[in-house]
Amino acid sequence: MGSQEDQTSRLAQATVAVHGRKLGDESQFGAVVPPVFHSSTYRFSSFDQMRRYSRGEMPDAFFYSRYANPTVSEVERTIADLEHAEDCVVTSSGSAATFCALAALCQSGDEVIACDSIYGGSTKILTKLLAKWGISSRFIALEQITDLSKIASDKTRAFWFETPANPINRIVDLSAVAAACRSVGVHSLIDNTFATPVLQQPLRFGIDAVMHSATKYLGGHSDLTAGAIAGSREFIGRVREISILVGTTLDPAAAYLLSRGIKTLELRVRASSNNALRLAQVLSIQPNVARVYYPGLEDDPGHQTAARQMSGFGGVVAIDLVGGEAEAEILFDAFKLVSTAPSLGGVETLVSYPLYSSHTGFTDEQLKAAGVSASTVRFALGIEAAEDIIADVEQALSRI
Ligand SMILES: Cc1ncc(COP(=O)(O)O)c(C=O)c1O
Repeated sequence: MGSQEDQTSRLAQATVAVHGRKLGDESQFGAVVPPVFHSSTYRFSSFDQMRRYSRGEMPDAFFYSRYANPTVSEVERTIADLEHAEDCVVTSSGSAATFCALAALCQSGDEVIACDSIYGGSTKILTKLLAKWGISSRFIALEQITDLSKIASDKTRAFWFETPANPINRIVDLSAVAAACRSVGVHSLIDNTFATPVLQQPLRFGIDAVMHSATKYLGGHSDLTAGAIAGSREFIGRVREISILVGTTLDPAAAYLLSRGIKTLELRVRASSNNALRLAQVLSIQPNVARVYYPGLEDDPGHQTAARQMSGFGGVVAIDLVGGEAEAEILFDAFKLVSTAPSLGGVETLVSYPLYSSHTGFTDEQLKAAGVSASTVRFALGIEAAEDIIADVEQALSRI
């Protein structure tokens, strides 16, 4: 019989998501679902055990839940398996994961290059937070990524990007990023929140590390806040150290909800993607929609690349309305089933206005680079029946 690691690597994603990676012996009471360990601290059986732990001789022992917790460790191993990573650390939010990953890579005087189409909060971590400690950032357009090896300097430590990118689904070629970063020794990190490991496994394309806002599809029910970073054992060890020191550890109750959400990840992501494709097709023939951004549409500029590296096109559809804020206001106030709320990846369909959510406070130049204007509306599809979502969107559009 091989190790659990060997067996897991032979299983399909959907099976890994349901069964996870069991840490201990769940045979007690015949429980099918592992218990949740709420304990914040762990008893040593002897003084000698405490001494051995402090000398690093018991690396897998639990000591204090800010450092490690059995319920949290289980979900970390499941996400690592789903992303084909050696290790994973989960955190109290996606933003905490972004901060810890970049802080693990950079020190004062270093630089991060990021794509200009990324989650607004990640841009702010770079420009408002890391800048305070002398870590600079530069933002490049999609078309410049192939020139990354020329753009990077000897100060560049990391390249941060998303694909599909928030909010208008721009697509980045994973193999091209991996090759460019490798050639200049820059760590490549992708925010894989929109695609999830169901649709895209970036480490298989040579990307160094994957980040998730697990608040979204991994959790899947809009009832928890969490983040994750998956990558090599060495890198995750450094990220974990920072997460432990700053205390961005995930609470075990949230870790349990996250494990439960992950069990249905494959079903939910496929359902949401199917709904998104149907909505995108309907939106592309609406008279008051100027443009639809969805990589599943054959005329989308990212379609070919997305089809090569993804097994589905994701659950987010963005549009530009004919008109601006006044038309958007009529539209938003007319929805009956679809809720106006930020976020994505839950079972319910949400609609957001990037100008007043993820991209609030951006300069005109930054908005232009991100492709966001007063016309931009973003739908995050849930798993309801497509016809009900489409009917609601059509009736709301007809009010404009
Ligand atoms: C693509 C993306 N990355 C990162 C984040 C930040 O995650 P969190 O809200 O869990 O901190 C978000 C949140 O909306 C997001 O949409």
